[in-house]
Amino acid sequence: MSNEILTTQPAEKKKIVFSAIQPSGTITLGNYLGALRNWVTMQEEGQYNCIYALADLHTITVRQEPAVMRKNILEAYASILACGIDTEKSVFFIQSHVNAHAQLAWLLNCYTQFGELSRMTQFKDKSAKHADNINAGLFTYPCLMAADILLYQADLVPVGADQKQHLELSRDIAERFNGRYGNVFTVPEGFIPKNGARVMSLQDPTRKMSKSDENVNACVSLLDTPEVIMKKFKRAVTDSEAKVCVGEGKEGVNNLIGIYSAVTGKTAEEITNEFEGKGYGDFKVAVGEAVVEELRPVRERYEQYIKDKAYLEESWRKGAEFADRLAQRTLAKTMKKIGFVGR
Ligand code: TRP
Repeated sequence: MSNEILTTQPAEKKKIVFSAIQPSGTITLGNYLGALRNWVTMQEEGQYNCIYALADLHTITVRQEPAVMRKNILEAYASILACGIDTEKSVFFIQSHVNAHAQLAWLLNCYTQFGELSRMTQFKDKSAKHADNINAGLFTYPCLMAADILLYQADLVPVGADQKQHLELSRDIAERFNGRYGNVFTVPEGFIPKNGARVMSLQDPTRKMSKSDENVNACVSLLDTPEVIMKKFKRAVTDSEAKVCVGEGKEGVNNLIGIYSAVTGKTAEEITNEFEGKGYGDFKVAVGEAVVEELRPVRERYEQYIKDKAYLEESWRKGAEFADRLAQRTLAKTMKKIGFVGR
């Protein structure tokens, strides 16, 4: 990206888009169709200044094995580049490389109420799931997420439905802070991308596709080989009606239609017509093949990037340097307003 974020006057400024994803395991088809593909679309539309981060600080709310964590971060960074994020057009950095995230998160902790954080449904779910490690970070996680967004004065934040509540809290924190100190933060608008498919598990289509699923056939990884992808789609759970159409009690088929539609651009009606009189076997093969073709170039680019550590380092260093300048500006302003004395 050019330096226009830093230099242009407010009136001519493009809107700032910020989003982030956690590097907690392989990136899934769900992450790709639900979020990453849309990151690329917004980058290519050219009407926004896009800032994207790999939210590695967020991942340690759950215990990580150091070697695995390192590998996850590298692979996720390379995968996102492979999806088409271009560091000439977007800022793309690793959260922990920019110190201001942890710093602003501390400040925002002191402007967020215990009651507000207690109401977060993700905290309730995660603390039930990890009852042996309900750490303070898990509780204050939304303050770190608010810091991510507010540091860049983001106007727009594409998020999945599961992050809507956290985004609302970020808005509340920003408004409260502005109410007390004057306009420090842009109050971000969240939106759920219109072309963002919500991809469900291939084995239990009432649940979101998740890399942490115990059943390996439930989740397609961005880096699965064509053979593995085909196998997973062939085993996808459907129903006994044997009719390719959207309907109640047909969560499995609905999910496959959603995926096929997201990849091919066909509407549900067109898909129903296409498979009129055909069985689920044919349909599953068609969905699998469409996904294989969609992911083929991504996997090929990934294989190149992951071998090129020097290129990865150069990319994230460039991203961090740019992000750091923007973030420092907001952090300094915030601290001054609160009453800190500068160095
Ligand atoms: N918490 C988000 C998730 O788990 C990731 C995230 C971190 C994020 N910081 C963000 C998303 C800021 C949007 C904006 O999916």
